[in-house]
Amino acid sequence: MSVFTAAADQSLCAPLPVLGEDVLVPLVTGGEVGYAALDYAASAPALKRVWDDVAAYAPYYGSVHRGAGYLSQLSTDLFESSRATVAEFLGCRPGDQVVFTRSTTDSLNLLAAALPADCQVFVFETEHHASLLPWRDARVTYLNAPRTPAQAVATLERALADREPYGPALVCVTGASNVTGELWPVKELAAAAHAHGARIVLDAAQLAPHHPVDIAGLDVDWAAFSGHKLYAPFGSGVLAGRSDWLRDAEPYLAGGGASRKVARRADGGVDVEWHTTAARHEAGSPNVIGVHSIASACKALTEAGFDRLVAREQHLVGEVLTGLAEVPEVKVLSLFGDDAPRVGVISFVVEGWNSSHFAAALSAEYGIGVRDGLFCAHPLVRTLLGSDPGEAGECGAPEAEPGERSLNAIRVSFGAGTPDEHIERFLRAVRELVSDGARWKYRTEDGRCVPDRGAAQV
Ligand SMILES: Cc1ncc(COP(=O)(O)O)c(C=O)c1O
Repeated sequence: MSVFTAAADQSLCAPLPVLGEDVLVPLVTGGEVGYAALDYAASAPALKRVWDDVAAYAPYYGSVHRGAGYLSQLSTDLFESSRATVAEFLGCRPGDQVVFTRSTTDSLNLLAAALPADCQVFVFETEHHASLLPWRDARVTYLNAPRTPAQAVATLERALADREPYGPALVCVTGASNVTGELWPVKELAAAAHAHGARIVLDAAQLAPHHPVDIAGLDVDWAAFSGHKLYAPFGSGVLAGRSDWLRDAEPYLAGGGASRKVARRADGGVDVEWHTTAARHEAGSPNVIGVHSIASACKALTEAGFDRLVAREQHLVGEVLTGLAEVPEVKVLSLFGDDAPRVGVISFVVEGWNSSHFAAALSAEYGIGVRDGLFCAHPLVRTLLGSDPGEAGECGAPEAEPGERSLNAIRVSFGAGTPDEHIERFLRAVRELVSDGARWKYRTEDGRCVPDRGAAQV
């Protein structure tokens, strides 16, 4: 298990500047307040450095891989050098490939499409849907939710020991849960996978923005992440790791860029020679701005000192957990136990409150943006809440009866750009909402709780 490594005497760094810091949003109770973006786990704000780097490049924008002009060559160099930056950021091994995709979802679907014939896949039911669902055409085994990291390793060991011993196998696991923020024992799971002749892909969507990822050190075969969660919201993602399965697979998309040579055959068909590099899976005109922005974010996090950012975020995690623990009506969700290490992603329910109502009040009355729901990890959230698969769990009645079990949860998430004031405001809002109730009436509209603007103030 990777542990947080900040030195005790290290002074906390300032948050990194992000876009949107000065944005004011209206309050339903009147006036405006600076928006507190506490939904980093969904999409993090862009780092100012990333925005500046994109803006500096924008006038030089040109076609990648296909132009003879100066700007095309510059753009191609930028695109290709971004691979090296990402490879270094992820601790890739020599020979690993960095494939640029649209997102983590896209990366994992690409790997699913590249599985060798008869590959068996092992995935915990606790995964985000992006890790849970792409393998459905393969021989997939869904593993039950473990309640400790050691149980996760033991569960995987057992499943792999029971598998047919020959033939390829892949394990897919998250680095940090998008629901609880808890760290998974990736290194131990990788060792278990390899001991049984399987490979492993790390879903680093929630890990990479919060903690350094070291593909070689963790000994995972691939890692995937999304730019928009790593402060680079310009539509690109990454799949990095072993080249063999990718090289041997059919191209993910067929088209220009993936093909090296195309010729008509005498019988009227077409012969294609595909690239054997990352380009094989990057057909079509690449998103050079998205890729450049990811490389810029990687550099920004590294140059700021990732360990210092981790130390600051861990300080905020401690503040949130302590603050929530002081409100007896709040229950923080956890798979591995209250003391399990976690990144800045914390889900909870509030006794007597429908989570959608609570989240709507945080937004409308305090200008705080969190997320409510099942977070694209329905089986995990249902396990944590003890609800049945058949129960709704979407935005339901605006208010739950006191003591009634909530069918969805509230998630607060933060990171390198989060100022202390956002956390302080969030904790004050939780205390006030729980003790005094909402100051406005809410109703359900198109499945979401919204302030009832026609209603009188409570
Ligand atoms: C753990 C995890 N994996 C995968 C994804 C999918 O990421 P994207 O929507 O960027 O494809 C998410 C998104 O929330 C996530 O939290």
